[in-house]
Amino acid sequence: MEKKKIVALTGAGISAESGLKTFRDSGGLWEGYDVMEVATPEVWHKNPDLVLKFYNLRRAQLKEVEPNYAHKALSLLEEEYDVHVVTQNVDNLHERAGSSKVLHLHGELTKVRSSFDEDLIYHWEDDLNPGDLCDKGHQLRPHIVWFGEAVPMLGIAAGIVSQADILLIIGTSLQVYPAAGLVSYAPNSQIYYVDPEPKDNYELRLSSYTTIAKSATEGMKELMHVLSSKH
Ligand code: OAD
Repeated sequence: MEKKKIVALTGAGISAESGLKTFRDSGGLWEGYDVMEVATPEVWHKNPDLVLKFYNLRRAQLKEVEPNYAHKALSLLEEEYDVHVVTQNVDNLHERAGSSKVLHLHGELTKVRSSFDEDLIYHWEDDLNPGDLCDKGHQLRPHIVWFGEAVPMLGIAAGIVSQADILLIIGTSLQVYPAAGLVSYAPNSQIYYVDPEPKDNYELRLSSYTTIAKSATEGMKELMHVLSSKH
């Protein structure tokens, strides 16, 4: 029998209990930086050193944190479901927890790409510095979707969400479009929204859904009892 499909739409909140700060809980400041001041192509052109420093800090921090139970639960569900994770996060905690199908809508910290040819993408673990060049001789930049840039994975993500039997929305404020609009692609699926402070979202309001107003780890423990016969 074909496995049912679970799609998990995740945001910064799922990594909060691993020690990575969310964006909007701290008044828009992330480790002292205003995300809008570092995550735009304009700032990259004006002050690339600042942008590199910001992402170097975040890449370094990744080495100090571990996936938490919520990441692990999603990978455990693969035993019984066809699980796809569609994440707005740029960390690699879903992969490190063992999830096999992870789509990053907003890019990945452990990748960099040519600022000249967006198809020249490299795996990158350490600091990225001015003067680090792609094979064609151009400065490398973080492989991140900045504000004002297109979201190349959006179409693929919408296709995945539209096939969901069960949609889990975990730890996202549903404020950033187009990612937040993805919730409207699975109107007939069973939807669970896990967030200690659930937000109002226009598209979500059009569907019927169950809110679990708990942290990601507590919420996933509860959901495992509902979804899994083994836990
Ligand atoms: P936000 O910071 O906007 O929202 C985080 C959500 O996580 C909030 O709704 C919190 O209530 C919730 N939260 C906090 N602690 C939690 C916990 N322990 N368990 C579960 N949920 C918790 O983050 P995103 O929605 O992911 O884009 O933000 C979307 C995008 O905005 C990001 O991908 C990033 C940012 O600017 C780019 O960098 C391009």
